[in-house]
Amino acid sequence: MQFDLTRQAAHEQSAGCVAVGVFASQALSPSAKLIDKASGGAISAAVKAGDMTGALGDTLLLRGLRGVKAERVLLVGCGKAGDIDAAAYQRIVGAAATAVGRLHGTVAGLYLTELTVAGHDEPLRVRTAVTAADHALYRFTDYKEKPSKRHLKSVLIAGGARQTKKLQAALAQGVALAQGVALARDLGNQPANVCTPTYLAEQAQALAKAHKLELEVLEEAQMRELGMGALLAVARGSRQPPKLIVLKYRGGKPKAAPVVLVGKGVTFDSGGISIKPSAAMDEMKFDMCGAASVLGTVKAAALAQLPVNLIGVVPAAENLPDGNAVKPGDIVKTMAGKTVEILNTDAEGRLLLCDALTYCARFKPDAVIDIATLTGACVVALGAHAHGLLGNDQKLMDALLTAGGAVHDRAWQLPLWREYREQLKSPFADLPNVAGREAGTITAAAFLSAFTDGLRWAHLDIAGTAWKSGKDKSATGRPVGLLAQYLIDRAGG
Ligand code: BES
Ligand code: ZN
Ligand code: MN
Repeated sequence: MQFDLTRQAAHEQSAGCVAVGVFASQALSPSAKLIDKASGGAISAAVKAGDMTGALGDTLLLRGLRGVKAERVLLVGCGKAGDIDAAAYQRIVGAAATAVGRLHGTVAGLYLTELTVAGHDEPLRVRTAVTAADHALYRFTDYKEKPSKRHLKSVLIAGGARQTKKLQAALAQGVALAQGVALARDLGNQPANVCTPTYLAEQAQALAKAHKLELEVLEEAQMRELGMGALLAVARGSRQPPKLIVLKYRGGKPKAAPVVLVGKGVTFDSGGISIKPSAAMDEMKFDMCGAASVLGTVKAAALAQLPVNLIGVVPAAENLPDGNAVKPGDIVKTMAGKTVEILNTDAEGRLLLCDALTYCARFKPDAVIDIATLTGACVVALGAHAHGLLGNDQKLMDALLTAGGAVHDRAWQLPLWREYREQLKSPFADLPNVAGREAGTITAAAFLSAFTDGLRWAHLDIAGTAWKSGKDKSATGRPVGLLAQYLIDRAGG
């Protein structure tokens, strides 16, 4: 989607459709008032008649208003005027974008940046209008015709007459973030017969080429030389060769220590020999959404030219059962030198990640954040609303919590006390890869923490947040929003 700023007043807007806000109190937003006045009260009449309640996310389309240039006026319910936070604002813009996306016109103007939003100045309202609209208009149609032909080509965002430069920059940043999110969603939605570890490496290659990034892809032989026995164990049952993708964006000072993002890239998780039940197993194509969020965030950072040194690390493999597959009870040696007894081949994410985390030390990172669809237990604990957050550095975790809150891509911290680490005992190896049913999200993180000595490290478990199931089955692009905001905050806003 094309996004631009517009300074035309709502009633003079030449786009085919303008969207304006109506509050639950029946009060009108400034642009709604302008149109109401120009049209001789058409909006207040609709509101009075009860056609538009102003409830959050409600919409009503009016057509052919006298004195108004646009053919269509979309009323968007904004709820209570004083209650608009980041979440409500995203819903308002999303509802408007969804509605105008269904219409016939090619250009629509959104007059919603004039709303008062808690914690948002005008540039942030512009940026969020872009990301929320783009999110609502996203479709994954690589293998299927669009349900209805989309006419909408461009969205105009109302931007005040002042601060034009700042608003232009905010719009451009919004476009960059939206493209990062869209990449993460596209990669997640690809089926596993297309999105293999090799495909992820090719996508990283394309990013490197488009944005002048440094790329290194480690093959099986190199990983064997490095002693990545845990990572390689996961890939043994698959015909698809594993890859370790390392993508570097240098936007910061030459000597500034980088932020390293590590994304779980299991392109299909059947469970391996500890095979999963078949119900909804298709959704395990989304088990590479951590990797997708890393590539998406690198893309967003590069497009927005954020002043940060950022390294994306993606350990990618497919987890399948086979005559050559790793078996329960097998013991492997990690790159860190610790041995692991693989009691459950379905706890494969931590096996990939432990070697990838060990590999990160060579970058002398300022912070390492891993992102993984790691545990079903996290879905039980937090549902689809929050990522699980654990780590060994409270300052880093606080920064991630703040960033997630600001853009409504929230994480929630769980404890990582010593007692949980003590649950990980094996009679045969340094560590088992599982520790019983209790506190599964925490013991998974506890396993990872054994490989983070000397790192400032945080872990995001996105098992419940990376995709939606059911009739709206789709990758969400989360937590690209949180991660990008964290990088923006680090750079000083
Ligand atoms: N990819 C899964 C986690 C998962 C399950 C994410 C369901 C989203 C929805 C992970 O590899 C896994 O299988 N974890 C096991 C760990 C268990 C064997 C300790 C799980 O959560 O059941
Ligand atoms: Zn998995
Ligand atoms: Mn698994």
